[in-house]
Formats: sequence, structure tokens, C-alpha cells
Amino acid sequence: MSTTGPQDNSFDVYVERVKESRIGDVDLDNPGFGTNFSDHMAVLNYSDGQWQKPNIVPFAEFKCSPSLISLHYGQTVFEGMKAFKNSRGEVIMFRPREHIERLNRSSRRLCIPEIHPETILQTLKKLIRIDREWIPVKRGNSLYIRPLIFGSDNFLGVRPSHTYTCIIITSPVGLYYKNGLKPVRLATNCHYIRAAMGGAGDVKTPANYGVTLYPAREVQENGFDQVLWLDAKEQKYIEEVGTMNIFFKLKDSLVTPPAMGTILPGITRDSVIRLAKEWGMTVIERSISIDEVIHAYASGDLEEVFGSGTAAVISPVGEIVHEGRSLKMDAENAGPFTQRLYDEITGIQYGDREDRYGWRFAVDP
Ligand code: COI
Repeated sequence: MSTTGPQDNSFDVYVERVKESRIGDVDLDNPGFGTNFSDHMAVLNYSDGQWQKPNIVPFAEFKCSPSLISLHYGQTVFEGMKAFKNSRGEVIMFRPREHIERLNRSSRRLCIPEIHPETILQTLKKLIRIDREWIPVKRGNSLYIRPLIFGSDNFLGVRPSHTYTCIIITSPVGLYYKNGLKPVRLATNCHYIRAAMGGAGDVKTPANYGVTLYPAREVQENGFDQVLWLDAKEQKYIEEVGTMNIFFKLKDSLVTPPAMGTILPGITRDSVIRLAKEWGMTVIERSISIDEVIHAYASGDLEEVFGSGTAAVISPVGEIVHEGRSLKMDAENAGPFTQRLYDEITGIQYGDREDRYGWRFAVDP
């Protein structure tokens, strides 16, 4: 971080605690996804050309003006990361530094001033420790952490905001998809695209999600879970799923679309690539067309398909449909390689597998 970059304000976090916890209202064994929010949240404001010191305050609604610039023009970025509690009650975050780095990368693309990584990390540690009772212990469940930064000027001109707010909320969650680890069904939707080269498909900004709602609704009306996005230029090459990156196991090689600007450079994606290489698999980040996948299916080379993401973890894909052609994989269970990855990654996250890459980050001092 350059000396002209953001200051580290982590030394001085103001904390106001709730008078009464809401934790009794929540079933931590069955939390669903993203519906319950822990007692506290962190708030950081950017004014006078710098990020001010972090505050941790009771989770509460906040007021804003109808003229809030980011509501109108979407100058907003976010992240999704997770904390886990192991059987000894120790709290671990998974690769928070990489998430913070990606948050700052997203901010740069949206002209949002970066926050010093240490400020976010120390604020996260403090917030999670305060709400540690909210972290589920049941295997498969975790505390989802959602930092969000938005321009907070009240102004209708199109320009970067002069003031910003960063909030960090946390939510006890289970698996992202409603059917848990049951394989998801994907369909292409060639009337629409998600992202083009030079756009912002590699940035965690709400617009990337908003524009997928209508195309996703179309495929969901036909019984699919998500859209399998194809490239913007030729509608030929596979990109990602919007809620996760995608991998194809073709015999002994694992192929995934390259993170060259149109897909989100997933942190779980990176974990998958490193583990698969370590296990002797040939991992290739390259363009893969939907036709190649169809041919590999026909020849028997396509053994498994799965998605990866913070929320999705490792999600098996049971079917892909493209222009009336259906590729059916196991509809009920994850394939052996997909299951091995799920077990290894969650094993590292919950602290019962060796952390060979330093992905675990202890929240306690
Ligand atoms: C995540 O995986 O953390 C995301 O932000 C994706 C979102 C669909 C929940």
C-alpha cells in the first residue's frame, strides 16, 4: 500500500453493543440463506477525503435521502466471505485477505476510494468476535459476511460520489441452493449476455446481479436453477453461472473458463484450481465452448460438472440444457471428484483438514 493510499484506522474501533440480543429468535441449525442478521454491524464513513474510524453498532435500519447517488447510478461494490466455528469453539475466516483485495479491486473499477486492508481485517475480527455466538456450529453452516460500499452523496449528476458508506453485516447461513448439495440444473439463455470484454463482469457490483434476474426468471420458469452464461461476442464460450464459477472434469483434466475480465475471479475457484493441481489433475484455464462440452458428453469424456463460490461452496451440476439439447449427469449426487473437493475445502474451513496454503485466518488473538 503506498503512503498516499488509505490510512489504517483499525487501531480505534468505536463499539456500541445491543441492549438485548436477538439470537434467541434464530434457529442456527437451520438458518436458510441471508434471512437472519447478527446483532451488530460495522459502519465506516468516507468524508473529507478519507475513511473515518470504524464503528460497530447495533444492526439497524438506516435512513437515506431519495436522492442518494448510488441508488440512482449504482456506484456500489460488495463482497461475500465466511467465518466458521470448529468443534473447539475456535473461529476461523476463510481467505479474508483475498476477499479484501478483491473488494478494493472492485472499488477501483467503480471510482470508490480503497479502504486500508488492515482496517477492514481488524474491523472484521472485532465484529465477528462480538457476534461469535451467531456463528453456527453445525457442519455445512457458517457466518456469511457481507461488506457493502456505496456512494452516499445526495446528488443527481452522474459522477463519482464525494462521500461513501461501508457497512459490514453478518448472517448465519446454511447452503445457498434450496436443495442443498443436490445437483443444480442449468440452462443457457442465448437472448441475453451477462458481461462483455471491457465491461465489469469481473467486479462484485450489484449491476452484475440485477441484470441476470430476468434471464434467470425465464429459465427458472422452465424448472432450471440458474443460467449458464455464454460469451457476449459469439454466444459460444462458457463463462460462469452468476452465483458461481464453473468447472468441467474431462477425464484427467479439469477445465474452467479463464478469468480474463468477463467472469468473477472467484476465491473458491482459486482454491479448487490449487487443490486439483496438488492432486495430480491437469488444470486448464481456457475458453471452452458449449459445443465442446456437448461433444465431450457424447463421447463419454465429460465426467463431472460443478460450480464454486463462497455462498455456493462446491455445487454439483446435474444437468445442462442448451438449445433443446440436454446433458444429464447424476441428478441426485455429487460425482466423486466434486465430493472430494467439497470435503477438502469444508474440511479446511472447519479446521479438521490440514491448511497447507494458509487459507485459515484465526479471529481470536
Ligand atoms: C458469494 O458467493 O458470496 C456471492 O456473493 C454470490 C451471491 C450470489 C450470494
